[in-house]
Amino acid sequence: PRDCKDELAEILITEEEMQERLAEMAQQISADYAGKNLLLVGVLKGAIMVMADLSRKIAIPVEMDWMAVSSYGSGTKSSGVVRILKDLDTDLAGRHVLIVEDIIDSGLTLSWLVRNLENRGAASVKIAAALRKKEAAKVEVDVEYLGFDIPNDFVVGYGLDYAEKYRTLPCVAKLSPHVYEK
Ligand code: PRP
Ligand code: MN
Ligand code: MG
Repeated sequence: PRDCKDELAEILITEEEMQERLAEMAQQISADYAGKNLLLVGVLKGAIMVMADLSRKIAIPVEMDWMAVSSYGSGTKSSGVVRILKDLDTDLAGRHVLIVEDIIDSGLTLSWLVRNLENRGAASVKIAAALRKKEAAKVEVDVEYLGFDIPNDFVVGYGLDYAEKYRTLPCVAKLSPHVYEK
């Protein structure tokens, strides 16, 4: 397994801190959704780690499904215009849906996604996110279950990538500038 040294400037959240917080979130989710046939919807690819860890700490039976979406528009900035690359297999009519995300950055992806899933007739659509960059918000997103608020820095690990790398780090860390400046 990888650890959190080398290229990383500063560890923001250790593996232990993340797992402890996820256990608290899972306990709350288990209580809130008891008897509700909860559907967890993970957003590929960043959410794979939090989906795997959070879902296994939830004490009630859950179903799992996945979406892949891409924000597009001019340049690299998220535009709020979202395209579905891989859709759900599950019919959402009457379902209680919990979207599982690694991070809320601008909030544009999730605000679009919540509305999209609500329009499919879900009974409820809520959000669980491991991380949120509060200062980066362009739209307010109601997050029911949140791991940590983090500063508006370039962070990687625990599902978050830089050019598709670092997702498998168990911690959340700031990337050293020398990695992305070279
Ligand atoms: C990242 C992250 C969230 C989204 C948050 O995904 O995993 O899904 O951006 O950004 P927003 O709040 O500004 O909309 P990304 O598009 O990088 O794809 P990935 O999950 O495959 O890395
Ligand atoms: Mn993502
Ligand atoms: Mg990414």
